Amino acid sequence: MAGGAIISNNGRVEYPGKMTLFVFLTCLVASSGGLIFGYDIGVSGGVTSMDSFLLKFFPSVYKEEKENVSTNQYCKFDSQLLTAFTSSLYLAALIASFVASTMTRMYGRRWSMFVSGVSVLVGSALNGLAENVLILIVGRILLGVGVGFANQSVPVYLSEMAPARLRGMLNICFQLMTTIGIFVANVVNYGTAKISGGWGWRVSLALGAVPAVIITIGSLFLFDTPNSLIERGHKEKAKVVLSRIRGTDDIYHEYDDLVVASEESKAVKHPWSNILKRKYRPQLTMAILIPFFQQVTGINAIMLYAPVLFKTIGFGTEASLMSAVIIGVVKVLSTLVSIATVDKLGRRVLFLQGGTQMIICQIIVGTLIAIKFGTEGHAIVSKPYAISVVVFICLYMAGFAWSWGPLGWLVPSEIFPLEIRSAGQSITVSVNMFVTFVNAQIFLTLFCHMKFGLFYFFSGWVTMMTIFIALFLPETKNVPIEEMVLVWKKHWFWGKFIADEDVHVGNIGMSNSKP
Ligand code: BGC
Repeated sequence: MAGGAIISNNGRVEYPGKMTLFVFLTCLVASSGGLIFGYDIGVSGGVTSMDSFLLKFFPSVYKEEKENVSTNQYCKFDSQLLTAFTSSLYLAALIASFVASTMTRMYGRRWSMFVSGVSVLVGSALNGLAENVLILIVGRILLGVGVGFANQSVPVYLSEMAPARLRGMLNICFQLMTTIGIFVANVVNYGTAKISGGWGWRVSLALGAVPAVIITIGSLFLFDTPNSLIERGHKEKAKVVLSRIRGTDDIYHEYDDLVVASEESKAVKHPWSNILKRKYRPQLTMAILIPFFQQVTGINAIMLYAPVLFKTIGFGTEASLMSAVIIGVVKVLSTLVSIATVDKLGRRVLFLQGGTQMIICQIIVGTLIAIKFGTEGHAIVSKPYAISVVVFICLYMAGFAWSWGPLGWLVPSEIFPLEIRSAGQSITVSVNMFVTFVNAQIFLTLFCHMKFGLFYFFSGWVTMMTIFIALFLPETKNVPIEEMVLVWKKHWFWGKFIADEDVHVGNIGMSNSKP
């Protein structure tokens, strides 16, 4: 047996191994699941504002929209029917993530990615070719199934593949791709809206197939994670994969710990009832609250409102493109900041800094809008004034993009022990999708009633969740994923929930503590 030594660096425990090209490319392909998610979030807004699309599928909405031109900036026309079309994706994703949980656990992470790819491929084709609303909605539901499967499997896949000290960086490629997906969809919509003949929306919707092809073909060639291979009894293959992804033969300590984790996991027959046990209370709490909090930052609502603000600056018909380009660039760069710092500064620093930045920006934006628009919503706004609103919107977006955006997916994927990992990740996906759905349903109505107060409303949530993180989320950077129980055990609050016998001797911390 090779040395298998555990390197202890500044008191931190690490397995041998380095970042290999192999693991990088593998994670790059898997993170194209983020492109699927992002493209589908981004594409619907633009398509549902194209006249030709409305006329074909929602003629009554089109008629009403033309007749009800509201001059109040707060109360733009809204249709529940259109919102329902957009939201059907989130509901489908919510349900699909539960099915994906079983598939990810029993057949491996990559088969869930494969199902995601195929489902999005068919859904995009149906959407691109749709001749009636039924086909359109069936297509949209298939996209939702794809998003459910991708978001359930990809973050877990990335976290399991990555060496512990680079896990944050590799996992955040998922959010980077999500951000790029939203950006590309916005730019594509801008271009296709200009296609004469009124079939531009077909191009926008059909292009969703591109990331689906990447992940469908990619998943056939990807290796599954060592954790999943061991869990399913393919121990020799797991050794080979582990040594390839770590770039060393000295993998025995990590391998042994994975085997211990897998044996414990086999003792668990029903992950769904198991996750309710007292010892999993910290993970269950985070699985629910982190995605919930991520959505009540107001990110999707503010992204939706951004083009209106850009219009106010005077970009006119170019407003949606400018908004997409400026916000897209800010978000991509800020996600890169997160990638570069998450494993050094840690998750907590980013959560606390990003959260504080978001609170301040939301209060400033709410106040700036309140001063100019009051409660009436009519105003002529000077350019410098509107530019300052947009600057603070961008600072808010930046704060989100290096904190809650990526960490809302990273942290849940790295905190569950193997026996409840698939179930836990499904809870995270479904809560995220549910709150996104509710937000989408009520945002325009809320905005119309709460007016600028909506920014204060969201900042109240961000304040609450920032305090929550400060008190209840332990730092998870650099901790091997199968050793995470030690982090909870040491926590001032969560430690009470975990009995000594729940921390098993296979864990590094325990073997390390031996003389
Ligand atoms: C969130 C999405 C959001 C996106 C914005 C993701 O992490 O889950 O709801 O639209 O970030 O970049």
